[in-house]
Amino acid sequence: MKGDNKGREKEKAAESASSLISDGMVVGLGTGSTAEIVIRAIGNRIKTEEFEILGVPTSLRTEMMAIECEIPITTLSEHPSLDICIDGADQVDSELNLIKGGWGSHTREKIVSYAAKKLVICVEEEKIMEQLSKPVPLEVLPYAVKIVEKQVKKLGGEPALRSEGTRGGYSVTEHGNLVIDADFGVIHNPEEMSTALSSVVGSLEHGIFTNAAEVHVGNEKGVRVLKR
Ligand code: A5P
Repeated sequence: MKGDNKGREKEKAAESASSLISDGMVVGLGTGSTAEIVIRAIGNRIKTEEFEILGVPTSLRTEMMAIECEIPITTLSEHPSLDICIDGADQVDSELNLIKGGWGSHTREKIVSYAAKKLVICVEEEKIMEQLSKPVPLEVLPYAVKIVEKQVKKLGGEPALRSEGTRGGYSVTEHGNLVIDADFGVIHNPEEMSTALSSVVGSLEHGIFTNAAEVHVGNEKGVRVLKR
């Protein structure tokens, strides 16, 4: 029952965010269950309206889904300036800072979001917190795992190498790297933590995002839109 409600909240948020897309836009397509609802909504608009867009996918899974929904796709090399990027998030604080990377795609998600004029996030109500507190995913070169763990500990975090299901394998990103989830407890200054994590040697990118322009929050009553 709870799962159904969460699903409906995601749908409301995703539909609200995808209504911001208009004809001719180049759109960053996020990754995750909420982003997939956005992709389906865009696909439906392409089929039913006079509406043409180009999508820039943030993962192979998203690329496959965009193709299935008949959304024409392009690359960042062809279109380095995007009109909008729509994505989900794992946690959002009161100043619209985010933790992303639950699906290990945060490196591409961050790159695409920075190429866009506007990053719009859709989430369900339970992901809104006063302060961020979820472990922060870091995409890490396998060669550097132990060195990254040491640096995370020095910054006051507890690192955990992400594993895949119950079979004991590690979670591998599309770039062939590993993911370390770094638990810092409550993150009092996300900007400062983001800068500190960006200088961790051996880590490609981390999951703190400080560039969301809008967050569409689905709840049982409807959608509320938070703006920076
Ligand atoms: C992908 O790596 C993530 O950043 C997702 O956008 C995030 O985990 C949200 O996922 P859901 O939309 O599935 O909750």
